[in-house]
Amino acid sequence: MHHPIEHFPEDRELEQALALLRVAQRVTVLTGAGVSAESGVPTFRGAGGLWEGHRIEDVATPRAFRRDPGLVWRFYNLRRASVWKVQPNPGHFALAEMEQRWGADSFAVCTQNVDGLHQQAGSQHVLELHGSLARVRCTVCEYRADRRGEDLPPLPSCPQCGELLRPDIVWFEEMLPADVWERAVEQTANCECFLVVGTSGVVYPAAGLIDGARAVGASIIEINLEATAATGRVDVALHGKSGEILPRLLAMLKGESGAAATGGIRA
Ligand code: OAD
Repeated sequence: MHHPIEHFPEDRELEQALALLRVAQRVTVLTGAGVSAESGVPTFRGAGGLWEGHRIEDVATPRAFRRDPGLVWRFYNLRRASVWKVQPNPGHFALAEMEQRWGADSFAVCTQNVDGLHQQAGSQHVLELHGSLARVRCTVCEYRADRRGEDLPPLPSCPQCGELLRPDIVWFEEMLPADVWERAVEQTANCECFLVVGTSGVVYPAAGLIDGARAVGASIIEINLEATAATGRVDVALHGKSGEILPRLLAMLKGESGAAATGGIRA
């Protein structure tokens, strides 16, 4: 008789991932929309994704904003309003607790997400590669501010110079903020274990961090519902929900360190 295939990764794979994590002095994590999916934030690609029904070039490029800022602001104001309502899930909390175990100097989360949920869960060392839905910036002057939770008018204007504001989001065809990107590259170059969580791994330069981690010989663990563009380049792929796998890994880490401290015997 055949047993049904369980969706949760095999213990063997979890043990493998755990072994890689335990020997790492420094850990860097790359997260994508999948880590927030269990909080109710839609991902981008695939059925029900944010890009379904939207052409990226109509809502998420500088050209789209020049052509029709009202449409782009409508899209982002809807996203802003829906994000204020959501809460971090156990995956975000597990990453925040892992940061405490390693220390914020030795554990960094590079996120492509703009929802702020890692920080809300307590992570201190978060590098927002694609900006933040909470922040706005002026299209003309240096004004930049956190306007979290605020309902903005359809075409918000700068309190300093009166010109049009824009979301502080990195759009397609735009450069990533140089300082944030440099720090992400540095954290990746210095890590010994690199976690890739809930990202399709198709958007560059963010996905290039995976190659950066490989280049320095870091071990790479992927957590995703399914195989992705990154899977061929990782040491262990754990298939399932990040909100379940990350807490499980954390629990194993805690158990393991306890066993190691007492010289505990494992069956
Ligand atoms: P995608 O929508 O491309 O990919 C989401 C990934 O998460 C997919 O691989 C899913 O299989 C996986 N996933 C979904 N639910 C999951 C769960 N509960 N646990 C684990 N994995 C899960 O999103 P990103 O890779 O983040 O850029 O997209 C990268 C960038 O492209 C975004 O930052 C955005 C987008 O266009 C800009 O807006 C500039």
